[in-house]
Amino acid sequence: MRTAREAVDERDTLEMTSHDIELTVNGTAHDLSVEPRTLLVHALRDELGYTGANVGCESSTCGACTVQVDGDAVKSCTMLAVQADGTAVDTVEGLREDGEFHPIQEGFRKEHGLQCGYCTPGMMMTATAFLEENPDPGEAEIREALEGNLCRCTGYQNIVNAVEFAADEMGGGGAGADAGDGVAADGGRATDATGGVVAGDEATTESETTPHDDYESTGGN
Ligand code: FES
Ligand code: FES
Repeated sequence: MRTAREAVDERDTLEMTSHDIELTVNGTAHDLSVEPRTLLVHALRDELGYTGANVGCESSTCGACTVQVDGDAVKSCTMLAVQADGTAVDTVEGLREDGEFHPIQEGFRKEHGLQCGYCTPGMMMTATAFLEENPDPGEAEIREALEGNLCRCTGYQNIVNAVEFAADEMGGGGAGADAGDGVAADGGRATDATGGVVAGDEATTESETTPHDDYESTGGN
């Protein structure tokens, strides 16, 4: 059991080591005090209540925690909150404007780009940052952009369709530079995106909604 003296010392230590930072999240400025070890995802979720960024692997693998920091897609489990001091952070909660879904949200809804939804906020934040840079992407480019975001239940084809839908809605979507180019351009990314679960050149007779249909449709690898 801690003594009163130890409790005071612990409190003083925490106060000495905490840092005051400012984050502008979805346009709203927040001042908060965080420990040096606090990850951005925990500051967003636990300190500020932005729970759209999900915690999955906490090791920069799954992408569930992806937000945008000054416009760049960032896995918020790999950034300390103090590193984000003074930045503008965008989370999935900020996508909807004036009661209207963002085209990427509409795309995921219309194209059935989610099932459990755990990966979806991260997918959307990666996709919207990507579409800012490349408003008219081909399918292979979309797959490459999303390679750091894993989905365990939807199947990637519908997610790609959702991003293509958003690109069209945002005025950039066309055929894209590499639409339909298939095997060579997509193969490596698709394997990464499954964590290597599907590696073979399987037969392509399953439903289009099976999780690995995209590897098959692109030839797998
Ligand atoms: S929780 Fe951040 S990448 Fe998985
Ligand atoms: S929808 Fe369940 S993990 Fe992607």
